[in-house]
Amino acid sequence: MSEVPLHIGLRGIYVAKSSLSYIDGAAGKLIYRGYAIEDLAEKASYEEVLYLLWFGKLPNKKELEDMKTFMAEEREIPEQVVEIISKLPKDTHPMDVLRTGVSALSGFDPDLPKIWGPKINEYKEENVRIGLRITSKMPTIVAYFYRMREGKELVHPRKDLSHAANFLYMMWGREPTELEGKIMDMALILHADHGANASTFNCMVTASTLSDLYSSVVSGISTLKGPWHGGANEAALRMLLEIGSPDRAREYVEEKLRRKERIMGFGHRVYKAYDPRARILKKYAEKLAKETGNENLFQTALEVEKVMVELLGGKGIFPNVDFYSGQVYHMLGIPTDLFTPIFAISRVAGWIGHVLEYWEENVLIRPRFVYTGPMHQEFVPLEVR
Ligand code: ACO
Repeated sequence: MSEVPLHIGLRGIYVAKSSLSYIDGAAGKLIYRGYAIEDLAEKASYEEVLYLLWFGKLPNKKELEDMKTFMAEEREIPEQVVEIISKLPKDTHPMDVLRTGVSALSGFDPDLPKIWGPKINEYKEENVRIGLRITSKMPTIVAYFYRMREGKELVHPRKDLSHAANFLYMMWGREPTELEGKIMDMALILHADHGANASTFNCMVTASTLSDLYSSVVSGISTLKGPWHGGANEAALRMLLEIGSPDRAREYVEEKLRRKERIMGFGHRVYKAYDPRARILKKYAEKLAKETGNENLFQTALEVEKVMVELLGGKGIFPNVDFYSGQVYHMLGIPTDLFTPIFAISRVAGWIGHVLEYWEENVLIRPRFVYTGPMHQEFVPLEVR
């Protein structure tokens, strides 16, 4: 076969135009629709960011209130879906539970049967409603499963809390403090979108066949589950707990690097400078560490960062968002295996936003393989093989 350009891993390949988010890897900058992530994280809510990503502008008060009211009304999940989740073994990975739950929800969406078909991408209002339903119900699936496996009564969603605060409330059965609510909201904003990452791209591949938003989001959840994508924050936290104290950090890092092992929560395919999301979370991790008595963990992280930047900063290796998000969730008392589902609860904004945008000028995503198998084989009947 003649030589064709091969793009294994699609490294550096541009597959579509998008106006949702832009990463300047060299400068360590991230923007959503032109707004600096720092401004959005500090000044906006997750709901405002969701609106921004899907509709291309920040909402006014009425637009925001209307969307929040719709979302709050849609938080509860059908009894049948609760039952399906309750039947899963308690040690099912929460990402598998989330995938199953979202898949099951599709059967209960009043809009889906009306629009299913070759023009599904043209039903804009219905698709926005479907997207908001999925986004609103995902935290409920995660919180319900968490309480079921703990043997605790379910805490039903409240309509008067924000998306982030309600999620913590359903998990804990108590309202989060202002700082806890703010940090969760901020974590959701920071993870809401990040260019053509693997899970977003997979959502788009599914949507490009004119399949529906439920199927797309299930594709996204499936892709995010892998430790090369959503799972690094768990690994970074485990490492910090293993190090145990700041005075052991240098020796641990140096030994790992001597053995050519990677330090989790450092380095990024696109960022070759400090990940802006890590910088924001670091500030809040410090506050939270003081409030929750986790100063040893935070100081250990600072020391790991200091040693890493000293040794590898020159190669463009700095902390990424996962280095600080794992700590933050841990300090909030969230079990480690829920870190990736929280990522999904946030990233669904980007997944759906990109699908809605891509559907405007949908093209089937269908690349090709360079065939390396044999040609011209003679068929041998089964009896004589
Ligand atoms: N610790 C130690 N060395 C590292 C690290 C690290 N975390 N990251 C990269 N390097 C080194 C590599 O060993 C390699 O060294 P060499 O040139 O001597 O061979 C060099 O830096 C380049 O590494 P690549 O893997 O080619 O760089 P790439 O940019 O493709 O890697 C990646 C990005 C995969 C994220 C990498 O930095 C890594 O494995 N980090 C740890 C896992 C992690 O934190 N992932 C989360 C990413 S953020 C997110 O997904 C939300």
